[in-house]
Amino acid sequence: MNNAAIGVFDSGVGGLTCVKELIKLLPNENIVYLGDTARVPYGSKSRETIMSYARQDIEFLKQHNVKMILVACGTVSSVLPAMDIKSDISISGVVEPAVKAACSATKNNRIGVIATSATIKSGIYGKAIRSINPNIKVVGKACPMFVPLVENGYTAPDCVPARYIAQEYLEIMKKEDVDTLILGCTHYPHLTELISDIMGEGVTLVSSGAELAKYALNSLSYSDDTAEREERESLELYCTDSVELFSENVERFLGNNINAQISKCSLK
Ligand code: SIN
Repeated sequence: MNNAAIGVFDSGVGGLTCVKELIKLLPNENIVYLGDTARVPYGSKSRETIMSYARQDIEFLKQHNVKMILVACGTVSSVLPAMDIKSDISISGVVEPAVKAACSATKNNRIGVIATSATIKSGIYGKAIRSINPNIKVVGKACPMFVPLVENGYTAPDCVPARYIAQEYLEIMKKEDVDTLILGCTHYPHLTELISDIMGEGVTLVSSGAELAKYALNSLSYSDDTAEREERESLELYCTDSVELFSENVERFLGNNINAQISKCSLK
């Protein structure tokens, strides 16, 4: 048993898709979330900058005495293996859980991956999928406009600019006949309705943030590190920019009855 909180971070509000699933799957775990809203997006930054931001995010969560760190940011997850971090607590990203779910879901061995430019450029999804099944064809597409759409609330399926951009990005996925699509950036599940509408019913969407939460459940149960309490005592959400703006997004994505403490922090 371990009563320390689960630490989660992202460049902004995307990682809330992981938190939403954690709230459902692990109702008695305390959670500390960091969204680096002052510096989002990470996905258009250089590898060095992404790694330097990620080290600060990890350090912040470590100072909050968490028992595990979930990297609910696709972009940081794509550089995580190269960061070679020495840590006494586990630090896990979205790639492996998302890839496992997608490989089990595909029937025609054609998987699409949509993510930030940095993640697609890293080639990490192709490598991870082929290491499970070399016969799977992987189609990657960077969707840099999706993060600003989500951060600014343009997520409704009838939102004209969002639909126009999504159609443009997803055309290749339809042409390549993928039957499974990994949302490799944790912001993208906020566009699920729209993406699903464009891709059609037969295509399985894999939310990388939700898969990471399922991984956390399995991992804590396996190592007997779950909390010993009836229900969650705290949900601490930190952002690095306006609390007001962040709170609006938190309410939109998690609902208004989640009883969270929202604060601004600075990273060093
Ligand atoms: C971004 O900051 O560009 C998006 C974060 C992600 O890749 O999940």
